[in-house]
Amino acid sequence: MLEVIILAAGQGSRMQSSLPKVLHTLAGQPLVAHVLQTARALRAERIHVVVGHGAEAVEATVSAPDVQCHLQAEQLGTGHAVQQALGACDRVSTVLVLFGDVPLITNQALQDVVSAVDDGIAMLSATLNNPTGYGRVVRDDHGAFVGVVEEKDATPEQRSVQEVNTGVLAANAEQLSAWLNRLDNRNAQSEYYLPDVLGLALEDDMPVTVVCSDNDFDTQGVNTPQQLEQLERQHQLALAEQLMTGGVLVSDRSRLDIRGRLECGRDVRIDVNVVIEGNVSLGDGVSIGANCIVRDAQIGAGARILPFTHIEGAEVLSDAVVGPYARLRPGTVIGEQAKVGNFVEVKNARLGRAAKANHLAYLGDADIGSQSNVGAGTITCNYDGANKHRTTLGEGVFVGSNSTLVAPLVIESGGFVAAGSTVTDDVKANQLAVARGRQRNIDGWQRPEKPGDSD
Ligand code: UD1
Ligand code: CA
Repeated sequence: MLEVIILAAGQGSRMQSSLPKVLHTLAGQPLVAHVLQTARALRAERIHVVVGHGAEAVEATVSAPDVQCHLQAEQLGTGHAVQQALGACDRVSTVLVLFGDVPLITNQALQDVVSAVDDGIAMLSATLNNPTGYGRVVRDDHGAFVGVVEEKDATPEQRSVQEVNTGVLAANAEQLSAWLNRLDNRNAQSEYYLPDVLGLALEDDMPVTVVCSDNDFDTQGVNTPQQLEQLERQHQLALAEQLMTGGVLVSDRSRLDIRGRLECGRDVRIDVNVVIEGNVSLGDGVSIGANCIVRDAQIGAGARILPFTHIEGAEVLSDAVVGPYARLRPGTVIGEQAKVGNFVEVKNARLGRAAKANHLAYLGDADIGSQSNVGAGTITCNYDGANKHRTTLGEGVFVGSNSTLVAPLVIESGGFVAAGSTVTDDVKANQLAVARGRQRNIDGWQRPEKPGDSD
């Protein structure tokens, strides 16, 4: 039986932040959420999370039926943290310890460690170009494992070692508990160090297996803003690589950020400086122009999103064209072949097939029938100061430029609104609504003069 313990109680003082470290985000998700996701994929019997600093917030983030949280009221070290959860583990279980600040650890590496436990204890090491801050793996002249020494306790010679402790460790619950009870905190940080159990296991002549990871990036921890940024960049490069392997044409792998889940069909193009957030799907042949932000959206086959467009909580159907400089807000559906042009904001509205709002408009709480054309400068007045109301346009409606549509309002199919109208009453099919001051031309108009201009 496998149980996972995720350590997430530390403050993360090196982040210099009031947010608990494990809640800082990588690819749009809290660090600890990445670890939890990997733990779930192992199909463990139970997942334990040790919380402490910012316990409520961390608990709220990890809360789920398969997760048990344990409070570490005082952060006395990683060994002490594991003890807080071990009591709730079955004594015969194999316990796998993960750190909440090592977000990209892979399922494969964890499986390798679990299967190396072998009646003793197993840990995962990695060889890093820059091992600063990590516990170093100390080996004897024959290369046999001797123990882990934390950087603050290490001699200069030990600090030059590039093989580090990743923090991943697995052992039988009952044995691990016995070793943890023997830990002391006589070290530079006066903490109960989890990796010290490896030394105790050696003393007891128990099998200690060090699994060496061949990947230096999945195993990295986050202690500082710089490390977070580096890991984010590496991760984003890997995500862009995956997309390209799937056939997506990415203009510049270093100028694409995916903060969530992106699904792409065939022949998708993504230009530079695009940010994808939440759950986004792009159908076959979709192109996303430069500098777009797309969050929680489905973009249908053949649709084109032109540069500088912002989309959130919207659905764009096939062959529609949106942008440049358009904003689609939650509850928006843009119909097939419809067009939404520059400086058009659409909220909680549906545009039918081939409907158009090509320039400078606000369409909120509206249904725009197919083939309808909304002129530049048109706005729906959807809010009366207390309540929101809908504007409904039938099919083939024409709204002249600079019209104000005061909701609730219905303009039936084929209705026509003259430019510059403030429309407050429903318009029947094939009627023309004109609702503006009539023009008067005054003959012989004399321009005003400035004082002293007379000669
Ligand atoms: C730790 C390891 C180090 C390893 C590195 C890998 C120890 C003593 N050191 O160092 O050998 O190379 O991780 O990234 O284990 N935590 C608690 N309670 C505590 C202290 C920490 O829950 O009392 C949690 C933290 O929230 C964090 C994790 O344990 O998620 C690691 O703690 P951190 O202080 O970051 O340890 P490092 O100095 O990185
Ligand atoms: Ca750390």
